[in-house]
Order: sequence, then C-alpha cells, then structure tokens
Amino acid sequence: MNRIRFDPAAKLNLVFWGDPQISPVETGRVQRFTAACNAVRDAQGRADAVLIAGDIAEFGREAEYTAVAGCLKAAAGNADAIVCCTGNHDVRIRPYKSQLRRFRAFLCDVPKAPMCPYDRYYFSTEIGGYPLIVMGADRNSFESAYIGKTQLSFVEAELQKAQAEGKPAFVLNHQPLNRTNGLPVTWEGRGSWRGGVGMQSQKLRDILTSHGHVFYLTGHLHYGVSGFSVENSGRLHMLAAPSVGCANHGPNGVLGQGFVLSLYEDKLVGTAYDFVNAAPLPPAVPNASFEIRLN
Ligand SMILES: [Fe+2]
Ligand SMILES: [Fe+2]
Repeated sequence: MNRIRFDPAAKLNLVFWGDPQISPVETGRVQRFTAACNAVRDAQGRADAVLIAGDIAEFGREAEYTAVAGCLKAAAGNADAIVCCTGNHDVRIRPYKSQLRRFRAFLCDVPKAPMCPYDRYYFSTEIGGYPLIVMGADRNSFESAYIGKTQLSFVEAELQKAQAEGKPAFVLNHQPLNRTNGLPVTWEGRGSWRGGVGMQSQKLRDILTSHGHVFYLTGHLHYGVSGFSVENSGRLHMLAAPSVGCANHGPNGVLGQGFVLSLYEDKLVGTAYDFVNAAPLPPAVPNASFEIRLN
C-alpha cells in the first residue's frame, strides 16, 4: 500500500493543499478530498499541520463546509493542527460579516483548527514553534483579495518578530502575488493582471521581501505541479499549490495533487504527491521534489 511519508528527522512536516472547493455540483471533489484526508491519516509518521490555502467551498455554503469539516476529521487524527484560510470562493457572493460568522463556525467544527478573530479573517499562530501568518480578504471581491492597511501592518509586525527570533516564517494566503508563479499562464493566460492578489500586491511583496526567510504559500491557480509551483526571490519563497479537489489545468492533470513540506535547520524540502493514491508524483514532473536552501 502506498503511504505519504513525513520525515521524523525534520523540524516540521506540513501538508500543503490548495482549493478543495467542495461543491454539490461536482461530487468528485469531495471524493478526492476524502481520499486525501485519509492518506494523511494513514501516513508514515506524523504531520505538524495541514495547511489549506483557501477556496474551501465553491459557494461558501454551510452544507459545503460541513462536508469539508467531516473529511478533515480523518486528517486531524494524524496532524497536530489543521489551518484553513479563506479564498475568493469562500467570501465573494455573501455579505461579509455573516460569512465571517459562518467561516468561524466551520473552524469550530474542524478539529485542531486555530480560529480567526470575530471581526477579521487574518491572524497569526505557531506551528511547532514556527510563526504562521494566516491572511484573508478584508472585503468582498470576486477574484482578487483586498488587503487593508491594518492587515498589511499586522503582517509586517509579525514578520519583524520572526526575524528578531531568527526563524523562517510561513504566510498562508489564497492568491499568489501578481505576475508570480507563472501568471498569467497559470491563470490560463487570461488578462495579464489577473490571478494574483490584486491592487495591494506590490505593497505586500515589499513587506514579504524585507525580512528573513518567508515561505508564501498560496492556491487559487488550479494549475498542476509544474516549474511554476516554486519561485524564489531572495529570501522570499513563493509556493503555489494545485487544487486538491478540482481538476487542475496545465500539462500535469493528476487529480488530488498537493505537497508535503519538510523544514530542516538549513533547508525546506518539498515533495509533490498524488494524495488520492498516496503516491509521489513522477520525478519527470518539474518540482515533483525540490529543495530551498536557507543560507
Ligand atoms: Fe479555486
Ligand atoms: Fe480562488
């Protein structure tokens, strides 16, 4: 039987998924997500956290979140935390404040999930002693994410703390920075400005590049693991996860894709998996395995 492998010698083992986007309009998504969560449960070794980079539910409906929380109970049996951020699908068609209440109720239902505050989606937490900043849109928008000044200042202050402690930081957000991770190709080439954070992208980039090593973990693209999945800019390391639930476009259309990230003192090692079958992606796939040095 294939099994996902978490390295007991690593300081951190993370599962990194994008876009479960569970929906009654395509039952395959929940089947794939169920299989992926079961693969984490049955893995060799233990995960410190499962990180899900938004678009949890296609329409942001209560029943969709109930289904996701149900699947995650299996993964939580072999992970110390389950961390979810919101994506544009979670927030875009609902009144902002009532959807925030619904998302908090969902997080209450997910075992071992750190909670966002009552009035905003963004917050910070720690995974195995390493800082994790969870971002989220400050108002509704259909495709990009409006990131307000207060949130940008929050991210900056948290990264300053991490730098003072000499630790790499993880930032979980739904959208990649504009024109990174293969955009616009990875957004099917539609509109050179589309597929990224949007108007605040440059401000966020300036903050992310002004501190120590930062792993910026995103989803949104629904693009199979490829040469675009990893982009480094100095000490900023931008990792874009494919969708674990939906079909992915690009040359690699394996269903149920995602990453295992293992952090060591001097490097981060990524391994791409077909989580439905708990099998590593073939080595011929670019970034099927990768290493980022932290010197
Ligand atoms: Fe999505
Ligand atoms: Fe999205």
